Parts: sequence; C-alpha cells; structure tokens
Amino acid sequence: MFGPKIQCVVVVGAQWGDEGKGKVVDVLAERADMVVRYQGGANAGHTVDTGDGEFVLHQVPSGVLQGAVCIVGNGVALDPETLFTELDALAKRGVRVDHKVFVSDRAHLTLPYHKMLDRAREQREKIGTTGRGIGPTYEDKYGRRGIRVGDLRHLERARDLVCERVTHANAMLGLLGAAERADAGEHEQLLRRLAPRLLPITVDAGRVVWEALARGESVLLEGAQGALLDVDHGTYPYVTSSNTTAGGAAVGAGIGPTAIDAVLGVVKAYTTRVGNGPLPTEAPPDVAARIRELGGEFGATTGRPRRCGWFDAVVVRYAVRVNGLTGLAVTKLDVLDSFDEIPVCVGYRLDGELFDSMPADLERIDRVEPIYETLPGWTKPLKDVRRLADLPPAARAYVDRLQDLSHAPVRYVSIGTRRDQIIEVA
Ligand code: IMP
Repeated sequence: MFGPKIQCVVVVGAQWGDEGKGKVVDVLAERADMVVRYQGGANAGHTVDTGDGEFVLHQVPSGVLQGAVCIVGNGVALDPETLFTELDALAKRGVRVDHKVFVSDRAHLTLPYHKMLDRAREQREKIGTTGRGIGPTYEDKYGRRGIRVGDLRHLERARDLVCERVTHANAMLGLLGAAERADAGEHEQLLRRLAPRLLPITVDAGRVVWEALARGESVLLEGAQGALLDVDHGTYPYVTSSNTTAGGAAVGAGIGPTAIDAVLGVVKAYTTRVGNGPLPTEAPPDVAARIRELGGEFGATTGRPRRCGWFDAVVVRYAVRVNGLTGLAVTKLDVLDSFDEIPVCVGYRLDGELFDSMPADLERIDRVEPIYETLPGWTKPLKDVRRLADLPPAARAYVDRLQDLSHAPVRYVSIGTRRDQIIEVA
C-alpha cells in the first residue's frame, strides 16, 4: 500500500464491522511507522493471529504487534481501565508497549457511569449495543459535558466535573427505571488512580501525527466498526455513535483530509452483523449457522453469535462511495471453501422497482428484496494459496465478480487468520 506517493492510508470496515480490519492493519503495519485509532472505543474487538498466538485488541491500535508507534486519537471514546488491562496483557506476552503507545489529550473518557447508562438505555431501546458505554460517552462529548484525558492534569477540576456528571447520570438512571446508581466517590478515586499512569502517555496527538507525516513517515489510520454502523451513513438508529467512515479519520486523528492518500475498505467475502437492525442478505437459519460455524462468527468483544448472510454488493458500493475507497481487501474467502454455489446480492428490488443504493430510512431498508446472482463454488481449500494466479478459477471468478460489482479494485485477498495467509494483488 505504502509507496512514494502513498504516505497516509486509512483502513475502514465497509460492511457492519468485524470484516477483519485487525488482521489487515497488522499486515500493513509491517511497513507503517505509526498507527492511529480514530474513533470508537472498547466496543471494537480486533483479532490478530501473529502465528505465535491470537491477540484481541479493543483499545490499542493493531499496529502495536508490529512495533509501530500507536496513537489513540482524539476521536476515540477511551475506556482507560480496558486500555491498561490490554497494555498489561500485551507486555506479559512480550509485546513492547512502553514508549510505543500514546493517547490524545482530547480523547473523551468512558467512565463506569457511561456503561450503566448504556445498559439502562439498552433495556428500552434494544439496539443491541456492546454495553461498553459508547453512546453515553459520545452524548456527553457532543453535549459539551464530557471529561477528556487532558482534564486529568487538573484533578480538582476533574473531580468537580465527575461529581456533577455522576449526579446527572443517577437522575437519568432513575428516569430510565434502572436500579443501579453510580458512586461519585468511586469515580473520583478512579480518576486519581488513572492520572499517574495516563498522563505520562498523554500527548497532543494531532500534532504528533502531523509531525510524523512531515518527517515523511508512513501513517496508518485504523477504523473500527464499519460503514453501515456509521452514525450518519449507517442503518440509523441501529448504528454506533461515531463516524466510522473515512471522513471521521481526519477529524478523529486530528489531521486535515488532504493528508490522506488512500482509503482501503475491508470486506468479508460474505456479510455478518452483530446486534439488531436490518441485514438484507441475512441467510436462512441453517445456512447462517453453517457460515457462523465455518467462519467462527462470534463477537470478539461480547461473544455474541453474529448474524450471517451473503455478500451484498449494494452495501459495498455504498461504502465505496461514502468512504471514497481506493481499494478493497477481501477477507475470509476460505470460509466459503465448501459451498457448491454462492449467492451474491447484486441489487435490491423495492415496490417492484430496481433499487441500486442504500435507502436512508429503516422502513424501506426493511422491505428491500435482494436480487441474487449465483456463482459456482470452488470446493477446494484455499489456505495455502499465496498468489492470485494460484486461486482455483471459480475462486478467482468470485473475487473478480465482487470487484466488478463493488466498483473498487481488490488489493488484498485473505484466506486464513495467520499473517502469512494473505495475497497481495500486484
Ligand atoms: P455500541 O457501539 O456498543 O453502541 O453498539 C451499537 C451497534 O454497533 C450494535 O449493533 C453493536 O453490535 C455494533 N458494534 C459496535 N462495535 C462493533 C464492532 O466492533 N463490530 C461489530 N459491531 C459492532
């Protein structure tokens, strides 16, 4: 990906998340000097198999396993306890994290009261959230009452802020009919405990990224979730509370959009979704169960079974448009190894008419009928293939068809969980 003209690359999910961004970022990070997470929080679960073992990262950018400098950007909802648990676990397994992982002073903190509010709201709203406090953290941010990492530099003021926030949260918990209440004293102690560990790794992240770019270093901006979970462009209200799309990368990393040279969209060779909301190509339960079993489709953060279905070209074309994707990485092609025939959704029918884009409103998304084209399967294991030319002809035809339907060039094809199981398309 990186080259003389490509210094800053964004990697985004182009479906409903869980596309395999962690693996793609890990592979690309071999040639990156810096990796920046720009949105989301501990709701993400990026799984990386280095060959020496599997790592699941929630807050720390996946580039940490390749030794890149890792930045948690201002756009992230930072759960500090998860961050430190993760850093300790990485250090225990021999991954260098000291002087490698830094956090933006503008990132908003996710605190226990955010998680309580998330759980209480979920009882009523049934979005199927991860329960990690993401929505309430961004609500506080946009309501201009959040607590940011940099606030820990002034503990007395942070203490007053957190007491006020806890009082407000408890009133809200009462209105929502929840039994649990947040404890101001515990929150205050938490901030006191966090400050000495968090402040030494706190930086003006936008500036750090900008300086790296000015030095000519390669920078990768790592997205979490996927385009259809974007708060503006996703299947609202069944979305997460941040801009997962490439536009969010500039804002959440603290750089200008002109600094970005390429945007790689990661897509599974089929489709999954976790949580509630529309999924037009969802397969019947028996087929979904087979895909789930073959693909190990269980949430990396919550362990929930993912809903499974066929590749939806309407979704990916839409993701190409709203992200300005310059290339695609197709992952988990090997999961389809045993299927004789593979349906692919090429368009939707709505009220008897062809519909070629993603409608904004749920009422229409719920009524679209996918139009399928059936492609022949290859019924051979792909796990040892390392060159595009060595793919069985039916697998190659499948990848070519996804590319034609998606309107973006396929740059990588992943055929297994390990680092070496990826084909770079020349
Ligand atoms: P939240 O981000 O926890 O508020 O959840 C909102 C929606 O986004 C729910 O449907 C979640 O299942 C979904 N979601 C959040 N993070 C991820 C992810 O990393 N992968 C897949 N779905 C996610």
